Amino acid sequence: MKKFSRRNVIRLGLAGTAFSMTGVTQSWGRALLMPTPAEVEGPFYPVADQADKDADMTRVAGRTGMAKGEAIIIEGAIADISGKPVADAVIDIWQANAAGRYNHPRDPNSAPQDPDFQGWAVIRSDAKGHYQFITVKPGAYPATKTWIRPPHIHFKISRHGFQTLITQMYFPHESLNETDLLLRSKSARQQSAMIATTDGKHGNLTVYTYNIVLTPVER
Ligand SMILES: [Fe+2]
Repeated sequence: MKKFSRRNVIRLGLAGTAFSMTGVTQSWGRALLMPTPAEVEGPFYPVADQADKDADMTRVAGRTGMAKGEAIIIEGAIADISGKPVADAVIDIWQANAAGRYNHPRDPNSAPQDPDFQGWAVIRSDAKGHYQFITVKPGAYPATKTWIRPPHIHFKISRHGFQTLITQMYFPHESLNETDLLLRSKSARQQSAMIATTDGKHGNLTVYTYNIVLTPVER
C-alpha cells in the first residue's frame, strides 16, 4: 500500500469488532444476523477505469497532494448470516469528495473536483473477513431541488457463493439522515444497520466501523 502505512492502522481494534445485537434475528430456532440492507447503486458508479484503486483514497498515485477534507478511517468485518467471516470478498467503494462532487462526467453538482482524491477503491476482505480503508468524509450534495443527500459511501460487495450486495453506508449524528428519502424508506432496524458507528480515533483520524452481512446464494 503506497504512503499509507498499514502498520499504523492495522491495530485499530478490529479484534473488538462485533456484530451488534440489533442485527440478530431468530429463524428456525437459530440466531441469524440480518443481511445488510441493499440500496440503489445510484447514478455515479465510476465509468472510466483508473490505475489507483487502493485502500488509501486520500492520495492519488503520481501526485504529491492530499485530498481535501477530513481524513477518516473506515473498517469492519464481513460475515455471513450465521456470523462466519467472509474472506477474500471484493469490496468496491465509491463516494463524493469532501465538497459533495463525484468524479463522474454526469454529476451535475457544481462543487469542485478534487484531483488529489481517489474517489474509488477496490479492496478485499482478509482471512478474518476484515477490511479497512482511509478516505475523506464525503460532502452532502443535492439530489433534487428539495432533497439533500447526507454524507454516504457506496459499497458493492461480491464473493462467490453470496448474493452481490450493493448498499450505502451512512454516518452517525448527521441531521440530514433524518430527511433522506432513501434512508428514511428503510425500517428503523435497517437504518441502524446502515449507519456506521464510531468508537474512537487513531491518532487524529476518526475511525468508523461498518460491519456487513451477506446472504448466501440459494443452492
Ligand atoms: Fe451517492
